[in-house]
Amino acid sequence: MHFLHGSLKPAATALVLATLLGSSSAASYNGLAVTPQMGWDNWNAFGCSVSEELLLQHAQLIVDYGLKDLGYHYIILDDCWSVGRNSSANNTLVADLTKFPNGMAAVADAIHALGLGFGMYSDAGKYTCGGYAGSLGYEAIDAQTFADWGVDYLKYDNCYNEGQAGNQLISYTRYKTMSDALNATGRPILYSLCNWGEDYPWNWGSTIANSWRISGDVYDSWSLIDARCPCDGIDAWNCGLPGFHCSIGNILNKASFIVSKAQSGGWNDLDMLEVGNGGMSDDEYVAHFSMWAAAKSPLIMGNDFRKIIPADLAILSNAAVIAVSQDPLGSSAARRWILPEAGSQFTQQMWSGSLNSTTGGDLNDMVVMLVNGMETSAVLNASLADIFVDSGPAGTAPQVGMSWEVRDLWANRMSDAEAQAIINASSAAGNVTTGSNATQVGYGRYNATKTSYKEGLLNRDELLLGNVTSTVLPSGTVQATVAPHGAALFRLRAVPTGTRKRDEL
Ligand SMILES: *[C@@H]1O[C@H](CO)[C@@H](O)[C@H](O)[C@H]1NC(C)=O
Ligand SMILES: *[C@@H]1O[C@H](CO)[C@@H](O)[C@H](O)[C@H]1NC(C)=O
Ligand SMILES: *[C@@H]1O[C@H](CO)[C@@H](O)[C@H](O)[C@H]1NC(C)=O
Ligand SMILES: *[C@@H]1O[C@H](CO)[C@@H](O)[C@H](O)[C@H]1NC(C)=O
Ligand SMILES: *[C@@H]1O[C@H](CO)[C@@H](O)[C@H](O)[C@H]1NC(C)=O
Ligand SMILES: *[C@@H]1O[C@H](CO)[C@@H](O)[C@H](O)[C@H]1NC(C)=O
Ligand SMILES: *[C@@H]1O[C@H](CO)[C@@H](O)[C@H](O)[C@H]1NC(C)=O
Ligand SMILES: *[C@@H]1O[C@H](CO)[C@@H](O)[C@H](O)[C@H]1NC(C)=O
Ligand SMILES: *[C@@H]1O[C@H](CO)[C@@H](O)[C@H](O)[C@H]1NC(C)=O
Ligand SMILES: *[C@@H]1O[C@H](CO)[C@@H](O)[C@H](O)[C@H]1NC(C)=O
Repeated sequence: MHFLHGSLKPAATALVLATLLGSSSAASYNGLAVTPQMGWDNWNAFGCSVSEELLLQHAQLIVDYGLKDLGYHYIILDDCWSVGRNSSANNTLVADLTKFPNGMAAVADAIHALGLGFGMYSDAGKYTCGGYAGSLGYEAIDAQTFADWGVDYLKYDNCYNEGQAGNQLISYTRYKTMSDALNATGRPILYSLCNWGEDYPWNWGSTIANSWRISGDVYDSWSLIDARCPCDGIDAWNCGLPGFHCSIGNILNKASFIVSKAQSGGWNDLDMLEVGNGGMSDDEYVAHFSMWAAAKSPLIMGNDFRKIIPADLAILSNAAVIAVSQDPLGSSAARRWILPEAGSQFTQQMWSGSLNSTTGGDLNDMVVMLVNGMETSAVLNASLADIFVDSGPAGTAPQVGMSWEVRDLWANRMSDAEAQAIINASSAAGNVTTGSNATQVGYGRYNATKTSYKEGLLNRDELLLGNVTSTVLPSGTVQATVAPHGAALFRLRAVPTGTRKRDEL
């Protein structure tokens, strides 16, 4: 508390303490996803076109492109991988040998050999969404099959659920059956619910799962309004029909109402990333990645790495932004204001949230996100009073009376040339133009395999903290010129006492 001047009233002290300590959320139910899970899933780019070759090539590219060492751990196989059940073998699921000629355990082994985790897909229904055999009624058998294969992650969908939905208890019970079955195998398997926000999974998900989808499927578009994805207004969280074709604006709006449900071990899942799939501009992808990190969504990439462009690799490789996602406090940023109103096609928004202190004091860092949904660039303002409103209303938070470093989390984005050199150096891309120098390329970027984000933040690694662009003085305003359909993302750090005195003169 040594940054604070004067005396605080006891009530204010309690408020500050509550903020400093973060939410006292329960720990992960199974010890997994202590921070939001990271990885890659084939669905957004490839749909049903799955194969051993596709998965293993992507696993190798994710290693070569340095993404494994940035924390992307799970290689997740989505729908369309089986040929049904084997009635001569206790009805176990059988992998499609034309797609997976060596079987699924061999895929898991190869992925593990690269130091990555293997994710698998099934469905809490009679069929999967693609019409393949579902796991409803076969939970124990399928969980054991997955564990036997060496699966580390299960994405569990909601199609053909035989009408077992409609209230929270019914959905909870259906999803809990698989949760219990996974637990009974004794193998740690991250459990990712995919029931599209039906029956308010954020109310019950954290006791049985590590994440839960909050909306219909994302698609590669910024635009908020799409008739196929209903619920874009102020009651977006209370959505009877999840729909599909949900834009990133629509999903962010849905998330804004339930941010408090995100906690260590149990996350609001805003769906897989679309960065790299070509439907959005660079500014839009920067905003998309910033939003997903600030809201503590799992960061599951969903692009075709065989044709990634350097700019998109640079977005996915931004360790300063990933450090927001992987912050040890595990507290989602919250929307502080939106203009003109939720559900409008063109909005401006300000989000902020607590990050663990990197100043060594007891004051949290803060993440600040300014989103510009207008068609022209705009100067957006975030006042300290609004940024710290959780610590005291209308500018009464003690942090408002302090000075803060404003650190731009996109300033140190890798150049396209560096990203191109990394792409060129990958043999998995069939594309080695720099000899056997692949491991040298990218040297100097953050390596989360070597030093976890938690440790890196404790060490105040500059690669994680962003670049100081200004200082905001007491009662001041963070200002940024934000591109159309773009976002600015900052880390605020308390100015050390000595420096602060100078700034205030
Ligand atoms: C089904 O299981 C039986 C008994 O284990 C086995 O002999 C057979 O090869 C299996 N069939 C398929 C398609 O996996
Ligand atoms: C089927 O399950 C039973 C009981 O777990 C087991 O004893 C038997 O070996 C299994 N049969 C096959 C073909 O896997
Ligand atoms: C099973 O659940 C218990 C109780 O929640 C937990 O302590 C344990 O880690 C879980 N085991 C696995 C393998 O998920
Ligand atoms: C937050 O950082 C402090 C040191 O600044 C450290 O002692 C603490 O363990 C961190 N909190 C979490 C939840 O990691
Ligand atoms: C932010 O503040 C600047 C001046 O300080 C002003 O010109 C601008 O219009 C403000 N932006 C918004 C969106 O109100
Ligand atoms: C990447 O390779 C292409 C040829 O495939 C070459 O033209 C380009 O200069 C290389 N770029 C870098 C940064 O190595
Ligand atoms: C190799 O690098 C070039 C230039 O970045 C790229 O266009 C191409 O898709 C990469 N892969 C292959 C297999 O050539
Ligand atoms: C290897 O990579 C480093 C760092 O990018 C570069 O300085 C060096 O010239 C490269 N060496 C060769 C032989 O390409
Ligand atoms: C990251 O660190 C790990 C463990 O020290 C090391 O094996 C790996 O080669 C490093 N990656 C890069 C790109 O330097
Ligand atoms: C940002 O900070 C990094 C790490 O300290 C530094 O290497 C880089 O040159 C800085 N970039 C800019 C644009 O200031």
